[in-house]
Amino acid sequence: MTVRSRSPHDPADVIGEWQQAGEAEVDAAVGRAAGAAGPWADTPGPARAAALDAAAGALADRAAALTDLVIREVGKPRSEAAGEVARGIAILRYFAQAALLPDGQTLPAASPGALLMARHRPVGVAALITPWNFPVAIPLWKAAPGLAFGNATVLKPAEDATAVAMALHEILAPHLPPGVFQVVPGEAGTGRALAGHPGVAAVSFTGSVPAGRDVVARAAGRGARVQAEMGGQNASVVLADADLGRAATAIAYAAMGYAGQKCTATSRVIIEDAAYDEFRDRLAAAVAGLGVLDPAADTTLVGPVISERARSSALAAVADSGGRVLAGGTALDVPGYYLAPTLVELDAPRGPLATEEVFAPVAALLRAATPEQAVQLANGVRYGLVAALFTQDLGRALRLSDRLDAGMVRVNAPTSGVDFHAPFGGSKESSYGSREQGQAARDFYTETRTVLIVP
Ligand code: UN1
Repeated sequence: MTVRSRSPHDPADVIGEWQQAGEAEVDAAVGRAAGAAGPWADTPGPARAAALDAAAGALADRAAALTDLVIREVGKPRSEAAGEVARGIAILRYFAQAALLPDGQTLPAASPGALLMARHRPVGVAALITPWNFPVAIPLWKAAPGLAFGNATVLKPAEDATAVAMALHEILAPHLPPGVFQVVPGEAGTGRALAGHPGVAAVSFTGSVPAGRDVVARAAGRGARVQAEMGGQNASVVLADADLGRAATAIAYAAMGYAGQKCTATSRVIIEDAAYDEFRDRLAAAVAGLGVLDPAADTTLVGPVISERARSSALAAVADSGGRVLAGGTALDVPGYYLAPTLVELDAPRGPLATEEVFAPVAALLRAATPEQAVQLANGVRYGLVAALFTQDLGRALRLSDRLDAGMVRVNAPTSGVDFHAPFGGSKESSYGSREQGQAARDFYTETRTVLIVP
């Protein structure tokens, strides 16, 4: 079977075709990774750090070409694509340094003169299953800690981002021992084979809820460790005392930037009654000012959605929402998969725009009588990845952010755009298993070995 990826800006532009890795190829890749994992685990931390640092340098040398490929393959606007490549370089450098940090602790031993240690040891082979929307940052925020802490990694990228994954491999692999960073192209079947392979000790997944649940069952069912990040239905709450101009700019971008195709995008804007009318108008004006066409242009902030299917399902969600369309709601009459940034006013938190992850430049507006009701509305979905709160009252910010049921809470900041050195993950159905990124990554990619030495 063949995997093919096309440009969402110009669907006639086929970026490449690859042979899908079937069970035999997955088995061979895991076998190579298992063979490479032992020597890599025995490689001293400073040498692993040097390898990752060299890989970061190689990525920096190829940043311009990789940025162009990201724009072409997944339709990410140039400013964000360049930012993502820069983030990828920073992630590699951060985890290169993390390989030099303390890798355990010593404890008082019961016998005189004995040494009791708890050491972090690599788990072995880690499988990484990643989405197309952050084709550089997500593979790297999984692979970099996996490698830094001494594991071999096998990446299964989303088929729509196969070219970027192949380019990453070409750039990074020359700086690493053979077999510790491999890419197996393919569709869901390839991911399933990898998650279920007995030679894979850990699986890190980012994608949809159904795919994530399946990966969790396959990996956990055979005793492997697994983490899954499965999206969001994120709210931005605007209280009447907020700086409304600043909030409108931040939320317009969080909802529509990169056509809303981020698990951290704002899908619901919950506005306190007293500021509702004014904020609605400010938000509509901010959204109208966003550049929509051609991701290669410096001024574009929105761009196309990934496929015709994504566009038609977003338009169907708008039609089924039962709300009033304030802006957008239509496809653009151009060859790519564009739809106009869309704002929909809802009278009640029902329907797909209030409950499902739409993954398109579409946001719903909801009215709340009080700040407490706003938080209740924000929490009223099965997801809990990130929530934003706009207010100038810091006491309120602290009190309400404690009550927002989300893995990440951002006060006076957009829901999207996370820090790679801070823990990343959500509550409720958004995530399963331990947090990614930052220091939390070490817990996932290592296990503790308690060693007692009695002289
Ligand atoms: C970001 O908002 O900077 O798939 C990153 C996603 C998230 C990444 C968001 N895992 O969209």
